[in-house]
Amino acid sequence: MSQVVMKSGEVPRYSAGERTNHWIVAILFILLAASGLAFFHPSFYFLAWLLGGGVWARILHPFLGVLMFVFFLFMVMRYWQDNIIQPYDREWRKRLRDVINNRDHNLPEIDKYNIGQKQLFWTMVVTMVLLLVSGIMLWRPYFAGFFPIPVIRGAAVVHMLAAFVLIVGIVVHIYAGLLWVRGSLRAMTRGTVSHAWAKHHHPLWYRRVTGAK
Ligand code: HEM
Repeated sequence: MSQVVMKSGEVPRYSAGERTNHWIVAILFILLAASGLAFFHPSFYFLAWLLGGGVWARILHPFLGVLMFVFFLFMVMRYWQDNIIQPYDREWRKRLRDVINNRDHNLPEIDKYNIGQKQLFWTMVVTMVLLLVSGIMLWRPYFAGFFPIPVIRGAAVVHMLAAFVLIVGIVVHIYAGLLWVRGSLRAMTRGTVSHAWAKHHHPLWYRRVTGAK
């Protein structure tokens, strides 16, 4: 990113296009998780009403899944390089006690994302691929007919496990974005963060985008 600082003294983090892309993925994820849980156990069946009832949920779930994968792919193309784990990320993780106690002077400078965000990003990538591949194998009436029954059963297990891991990962992601790291949510709503937030949480990124010493 070029060295830009907004007039108001805020630091730009996500463009309008990036934010729209993120919230499309988030809304699709909620619809997919809700309808998927409705198929998984009768006690979650009421969630199917988010998509207009059981029949519509069953019809729409796979199409929405493909759509989420495509929009997520745009995010991966934008962010994969920022999520490569570097030696200073491992060092930062080793000093988690200093992170929690805000002893910034003891910490190596990190870039746009911390190692927790990076690990979660790659977990999202792996689970999304597993969900797409296993989902296509399960997709009646279009594709399931090409696979023998034991393979379809295996795909159902993979689909369920990948969904479980992704749902837990997103719960952590939402908790971190909303509550844990205060001031993060506005990055994905307004598109900017404060100088203090950027300096404190991502000093290397802050210096890179603002040119600050
Ligand atoms: C539904 C509620 C959600 C909330 C409140 C939320 C919140 C946020 C926030 C605040 C950020 C900016 C973090 C930063 O720049 O440090 C972010 C980034 C991101 N979010 Fe979400 N998010 C949600 C759902 C999702 C879902 C469902 C996905 C994907 C399945 C997702 C994928 C991402 C990715 C890939 C980034 C870029 C950061 C990275 O590469 O680690 N988010 N989100």
